Amino acid sequence: MEVATPMSKRLDGKVAIITGGASGIGEATARLFANEGARMVVIADIQDKLGESVALSIGAHHCTYIHCDVSDENQVKSMVELTVKNYGHLDIMFSNAGIVNRNQSLLDLDLSLMDRLFAINVRGMVACVKHAARAMVEGHKGGSIICTASVAGKMGGDDGMQDYAISKNAVVALVRAGSCEFGKYGIRINCVSPAAVVTPMTMEWFGIKDKEIAEGAFSIHSSLKGTVLKVNHVADAVLFLASDQSAFVTGHDLVVDGGLLCRVGSNKFLDEK
Ligand SMILES: NC(=O)c1ccc[n+]([C@@H]2O[C@H](COP(=O)([O-])OP(=O)(O)OC[C@H]3O[C@@H](n4cnc5c(N)ncnc54)[C@H](O)[C@@H]3O)[C@@H](O)[C@H]2O)c1
Repeated sequence: MEVATPMSKRLDGKVAIITGGASGIGEATARLFANEGARMVVIADIQDKLGESVALSIGAHHCTYIHCDVSDENQVKSMVELTVKNYGHLDIMFSNAGIVNRNQSLLDLDLSLMDRLFAINVRGMVACVKHAARAMVEGHKGGSIICTASVAGKMGGDDGMQDYAISKNAVVALVRAGSCEFGKYGIRINCVSPAAVVTPMTMEWFGIKDKEIAEGAFSIHSSLKGTVLKVNHVADAVLFLASDQSAFVTGHDLVVDGGLLCRVGSNKFLDEK
């Protein structure tokens, strides 16, 4: 008689850091990583109360919160070092924290606002990649780094998000550069590029209070009908890149957009309102 063995989960025993894990895509990913057997998920964010409550709701044995402003390299370094000291090593870094500005057309660009955005979306992302990769090299066990880019980085536009679009393009360049440098250590680095998805960031940016109205507006241009992009879909893509299921995938930009980018420029797309 065949003896049933317990199903192994996709992140069994792994130690992961998620920046921007107190909210939105990061929070959904923290919950999924814990469900998939991660030994410890470290949420690194600046929203302390929210981050602590998310960690508590996941469970203190599998999730903890650390205050870390990713625009400060020393905080990033200490956060990574503390994780390794407390949990032995680092297997996964999901560098996800990001912000968006308003009214940033190129002609009226406020460069000080852009500097702040780049300090988080680009410099902060680089600091997280740098210190995670250093810890992984020292740990001699490889690892997986995933960054959050965006479809916004792949399209031009006059929509006031120009500095954001430029920053997200830089994230893809970071991933490509990292894949060349880290491969010899068995460290993979990839990114996800989601289309617009309902999170506190987008609700505030678009000034929409009703989640369903926002989802309807965000869905108009995707090819895939009958499915609305949710944070869980993005978390699933991140899980794939974090787990051994993507063991030979590095330097990849995994677009999660329901076919949006394939349609940009098509006649049908231009006709849509
Ligand atoms: N929501 C979307 O439509 C969408 C689409 C594509 C890409 N993204 C990207 O996804 C990522 C997550 O965004 P979200 O939509 O979940 O928004 P969110 O606002 O819900 O979450 C972002 C989190 O990042 C944290 N954060 C901000 N600045 C920080 C800093 N300096 N240090 C540490 N943490 C900081 C915030 O406190 C927040 O918890 C961002 O990089 C964003 O650019 C979002």
